[in-house]
Amino acid sequence: MTLRLAVLASGRGSNLQAILDAIAAGTLDAEVIGVWSDRKDAQALVRARDAGMQAHAIRPRDFVDRAAHDAALFGALDAAGPDLIVCAGYMRLIGADVLAARAGRMINIHPSLLPDFKGLHTHQRALDAGVPEHGASVHYVTAELDGGPVIAQARVPVLPGDDAATLSARVLGREHPLLLETLRWIAAGRVALHEAGIHVDGRASGPLQLAATDRFP
Ligand code: GAR
Repeated sequence: MTLRLAVLASGRGSNLQAILDAIAAGTLDAEVIGVWSDRKDAQALVRARDAGMQAHAIRPRDFVDRAAHDAALFGALDAAGPDLIVCAGYMRLIGADVLAARAGRMINIHPSLLPDFKGLHTHQRALDAGVPEHGASVHYVTAELDGGPVIAQARVPVLPGDDAATLSARVLGREHPLLLETLRWIAAGRVALHEAGIHVDGRASGPLQLAATDRFP
């Protein structure tokens, strides 16, 4: 089944680009039916338009409160009818009721090995904590910020001399294959949200781990 994706992005859009490139290359059976941003100047919108996609900015400042912004954004998303909403660098909080209504149909990529380092500045916080390993996670979105069940992770070493920029670049290089492989497994119906955790091939599972081959074993 070709997975119909709606992508939410606030900034650079490199994860969106990875999705668009994989679809164009025939390595991901999906279709991006639209890209939505909370920022008019998001590079992600430029990337989407360059690829011939629908791209929309729905800015919080144009609404009286978060609930009104959520209603506009998710009203537009529902009208487009995605199978899955992908938060790819979407940096705004979304109301709990909106998220609850979409449980299992919305994922986020986060630059840490969750449950470690939820929230912002994950690379600097990993360095400050002195962890030997860092990485990225894809998880189902729930009302708890960066707290939904983790589907898959990619790990990188923290190397001597790393700063937030070098570590972030190393993680980003693994984010793209991680997100693509996760989307392939979702498209193939191999991963689903079940109560508090994920099921893989119909069984309760911990997070899938991305191998050096860019695949899940
Ligand atoms: C990515 O590193 C993603 O993991 C992170 O924002 C970056 C977006 O990059 N997301 C979060 O921090 C969400 N809490 P991109 O715009 O180039 O895809």
